[in-house]
Amino acid sequence: MITRLDLIKKYIEFFEKKNHKQIPNASLIPINDPTVLFTTAGMHPLVPYLQSQKHPLGNRLVNIQRCIRTGDIEEVGDSVHHTFFEMLGNWSLGDYWKKEAIEYTFEFITKILKIQKEKLAVSCFKGDKKLNISKDTESEEVWISLGIPKERIAFLKKEDNFWGPAGENGPCGPDTEIFYWSDSIPAPKHFDTKDKRWIEIGNNVLLEYLKENNNFKKAKQKNIDFGGGLERTLAVLNNLDDNYLAEVFLPIIKEIERISHKPYDSYKKEMRIIADHIKSAIFIISDGITPSNTEKGYVLRRLIRRAVRYGKLLNIEINFTTKIALPIFEIYKDYKNIHKNKNNTLKILDEEEIKFRKTIERGLRLFNKISENNKILSGKDAFLLFQSYGFPIELSEEMAKEKKIKINTSGFKEEYKKHQELSRTSSAGKFRSGLADHSEKTTRLHTATHLVNEALSQVLGLEVAQRGSNITPERTRFDFTFSRKLTEEEIKKVEDLVNKIIKKALPIEKTELPLKEAFKSGAKGEFGHKYPDKVLVYTAIDKEDKKGYFSKEICTGPHVKNTKEIGKFKIIKQESVSSGVRRIKAIVEN
Ligand code: ALA
Repeated sequence: MITRLDLIKKYIEFFEKKNHKQIPNASLIPINDPTVLFTTAGMHPLVPYLQSQKHPLGNRLVNIQRCIRTGDIEEVGDSVHHTFFEMLGNWSLGDYWKKEAIEYTFEFITKILKIQKEKLAVSCFKGDKKLNISKDTESEEVWISLGIPKERIAFLKKEDNFWGPAGENGPCGPDTEIFYWSDSIPAPKHFDTKDKRWIEIGNNVLLEYLKENNNFKKAKQKNIDFGGGLERTLAVLNNLDDNYLAEVFLPIIKEIERISHKPYDSYKKEMRIIADHIKSAIFIISDGITPSNTEKGYVLRRLIRRAVRYGKLLNIEINFTTKIALPIFEIYKDYKNIHKNKNNTLKILDEEEIKFRKTIERGLRLFNKISENNKILSGKDAFLLFQSYGFPIELSEEMAKEKKIKINTSGFKEEYKKHQELSRTSSAGKFRSGLADHSEKTTRLHTATHLVNEALSQVLGLEVAQRGSNITPERTRFDFTFSRKLTEEEIKKVEDLVNKIIKKALPIEKTELPLKEAFKSGAKGEFGHKYPDKVLVYTAIDKEDKKGYFSKEICTGPHVKNTKEIGKFKIIKQESVSSGVRRIKAIVEN
């Protein structure tokens, strides 16, 4: 068996021998970039040194970095995705380039970790005409020289093989990724990138470009950013086909099994989500965040609540998050910061769990009321429980079984689909959620809705997130996440900001982008909605704003051409929709 600490030691020592200096594992709260909530990669703390600043320890660095990524939180539950993970990183700041970077990675993986090269495949950048970047045959040649056959090298497009920037702007570039064949049968001759048994374990980003206000230009300094997933590598080295069976998760899973009296084998998804989310929560709290309804605090709240919800699916009715927190402290003995704040962290976890259980209690009362008089829980009610009280459908199903009533799951699915369709932006020309018509007045209100979405974030905090909208020629109705009533002063500030932007007569620009790029460019989308691969983005261009725009959203329109067409904007009402979600109604006047 190879342990987490063995792997870290081997990695650091290998790169120290190659003249790298170890740098600290930085906080999850990025200090250099206000455009991102958390440190999502080792790159964040290094951004200034990837441009021109000299790093005090030189131009070859190595580290282990704790990271939080909630972008694909829905994928957590399988064997390889996590919201918290540690990244092995080695860096060249204007020093070595592709050849050495790839050779180092290969040497470490095959010589130090002794992974057979027959189990490896790689991807390189296919090139991109729009960006004027050519196919990366240079990396391909290096891989071939090391014995990776051509059939095991895939060339992929920008969406797959281009990394960065860490925030909205900054260093970025094509990358070359390394994959491991995770099945026990021999690896196929050809690398099929769609085959999930090929698992990405590391990635050399060739930082040659700089993104500035949506433009990519050649950077002055060429850097290397290697990132390797510690959890995945640890599983591979221990011949495990499930990261949750490795040392960094197993004690947590065991504790969940003990508390729930259920076996992991039958409840993998639920247990993985709980273990992952509570681990993330501990690290986030330890770096100074508390649960709230905005920004980082909101992400933390969501993680804890999601874990509690999945705990309910395992019939855990006692407060349990602090119990399963204990093995996490044991696993990460080497993290001084989490140990220093342990008591406080446990207290915060416990309080949040108690609070959320109360919301769930209200949902339960509703459920009991419905089930008293009905033999069936309708799709609409199941959806209400899901949407407003945070009950996953599986939980409602369990409860219905206990009460010996039926549940209309297909009705629930229909409601769910209807809700998604209503709010989905589709490139097929369907219009956006709740837009009553395409009249001139509705269109003006529609653009005003984009402006108020941004204004609310600016006035109340970045994590105010849209939860739905409904626009008629008379008024716009906008729902968003926020915990309390807005003050008169806040309402006035939001109105004033929207009216200021209207007066500025900003042009509204419409562009079509692949979905990933739209998000990367900073466009807002609606939480939980499925978008097509290609989307339209509407931007209120503002040259005076340091971002280059005031608002940017994925949407199918229609919108006015210029904000001056909107008229005077006024909020006429605010109300609460459900726990943590508020609604405003607003009008525009000529
Ligand atoms: N920064 C690169 C990544 O996160 C290495 O994949």
